Amino acid sequence: MRLLWQRAVRLQKLMPQTHLAPHTHARRLLATTSASARGGGQEEKENPKWSSPGSKAEIFLYGAFWAGGLGLGYVWLTRRYSSTPDEEVKPDDEAVARLWHITPRKDLPTYKTEQVEQHNAPDKGIWVTYGLGVYDVTEFAENHPGGDKIMMAAGSAIDPFWAIYQQHNTLEVLELLESFRIGNLEGLTVPNAEEELGSPWAQEPERHALLKPASKRPFNAEPPIGLLAEKFYTPNEMFYVRNHLPVPVLVPEEYELEIDTSGGEQGGPLLTLTLAQIKALPRHTVTAAIMCGGNRRSEMTDIKAVKGLSWGAGAVGNAKWSGARLCDVLREQGVQPNESMHVIFEGADLDPTSHPYGASIPLSKALDPRGDVLLAYEMNDEPLTRDHGYPIRVIVPGVVGARNVKWLTRIMVADHESDSHWQQNDYKGFSPSTDWDTVDFSKAEAIQAMPVTSAICTPLPGERVKVDPQGGYITVRGYAWSGGGRKILRVDLTGDEGKTWHVAELEQEDSPDGRHYGWSLWTARLPIPEEQQQRRKAGGSGELEIWAKAVDSAYNVQPEKFEHIWNLRGVLANAYHKVKVKLA
Ligand code: MTE
Repeated sequence: MRLLWQRAVRLQKLMPQTHLAPHTHARRLLATTSASARGGGQEEKENPKWSSPGSKAEIFLYGAFWAGGLGLGYVWLTRRYSSTPDEEVKPDDEAVARLWHITPRKDLPTYKTEQVEQHNAPDKGIWVTYGLGVYDVTEFAENHPGGDKIMMAAGSAIDPFWAIYQQHNTLEVLELLESFRIGNLEGLTVPNAEEELGSPWAQEPERHALLKPASKRPFNAEPPIGLLAEKFYTPNEMFYVRNHLPVPVLVPEEYELEIDTSGGEQGGPLLTLTLAQIKALPRHTVTAAIMCGGNRRSEMTDIKAVKGLSWGAGAVGNAKWSGARLCDVLREQGVQPNESMHVIFEGADLDPTSHPYGASIPLSKALDPRGDVLLAYEMNDEPLTRDHGYPIRVIVPGVVGARNVKWLTRIMVADHESDSHWQQNDYKGFSPSTDWDTVDFSKAEAIQAMPVTSAICTPLPGERVKVDPQGGYITVRGYAWSGGGRKILRVDLTGDEGKTWHVAELEQEDSPDGRHYGWSLWTARLPIPEEQQQRRKAGGSGELEIWAKAVDSAYNVQPEKFEHIWNLRGVLANAYHKVKVKLA
């Protein structure tokens, strides 16, 4: 038995050094299953041919780890659970305790990922998974000062958080977690490696385990919102990813960008630029936030169902982009201003009918030196990553994410917009009364500049928040952004449904209005309303609803309610951000 223990411990110690650590596999596994649960159905409709079951190679690796290690863990567990509570903790116990979460408990039921996902808020119960373990941490999250960290993982896996917050890896914490265990996570199958090799998804890049997938294939994921406002420049690996198709593999030495400025005329000028030639052009850097048209869609869904991936408020990021200016290239080619012309972009990612992802912007934006449209090769001073468009993407500051075409292969100046699905039949806004029987996409304008918006990043919904004992306030932090280069002037917060408002402090770049493309981070000290304080003192619920709204340089303000801006595709979801918390 002792030998088995030692082997189990050794196995556990070896794990982090393997190419993919087990917690990563667990997370991936969860992502695979949760993709089909959350967004899979939707994606099947959008890309029928590409939909396929979860990553079998990952499941295989995970299964192999299982076969080798879990038998040992189980032997140990049987012993542990037959031991007396007072038994002295042996030196090896902490290492072995690290195997609990990857060991199925026969005495507990098995849950599907979808069941875990439903328990993501205090009123529904807060469940998390760690490896194979399913834990009900409702009570713990409510009473523990670090409850906010757990809320980030509510309804999903805590593995990636614990990979960062290593202080959790102690016997005390692991024992506490195991005491919350209510079951095992379902869903391990043996892969068919041949099938995976032929899959268009076989060459997808590695992703940070903290990105929460809304769908795995195509890969769409956002960072936990609690981390989003921590850094002015969103770290590249934490930047949300929005892919409609598999990520193409582009070889930098063979990369070519075709630029057709003929405006549709046969035999007009055609320019081909290599990566080296683009990099040799004058370098320009701009700070710009990119936001998906569906950011905060999940809040709109609370009013009435919409079609689309269920994005939280994390489908946005802010970065410093560097590259050549499109206006320089077009002017060099002799392109003249023309209000009725468009610039069409195509990516290297192809749909099942071999059509590339495509989008367009007005020529006036592309030619405007203050528009800062870039053929970007760097993001935060690093080469673009594959997920974000390596080697070249177009950055269209102030404009909806969909027009920022990645893996750029072709640019055309034309007298019409892109005829791609994403320009014509998606990313357009409609009246709340338009439904799928009455909708006519050809009558609506494609979204370009985005409306003003903001979001509360901390505290998280349901979090138990500490009230400052002296000042009677809580600290609230978030982001705000407006499209079209409009600067954020103000972010207002209220804790009493708008009776009194408090202005947040802004952290923003000092760039001119009209060309202010980066986001603003904000921090507010929100006083607890008197009524709330009295209720708390009398032993009442101590619940507080925080509202945030931003004002941009055109004095545009966010609308109060989603009811009045609801649309069937769930885009432009910019109503006040409202977050209910508990006062500690
Ligand atoms: N470009 C290509 N070629 N393919 C895509 O699927 N998605 C678009 C845009 N550019 C997309 C694309 C959408 S909808 C968004 S919101 C942004 O890329 C997301 O950029 P990111 O993944 O770098 O965050």
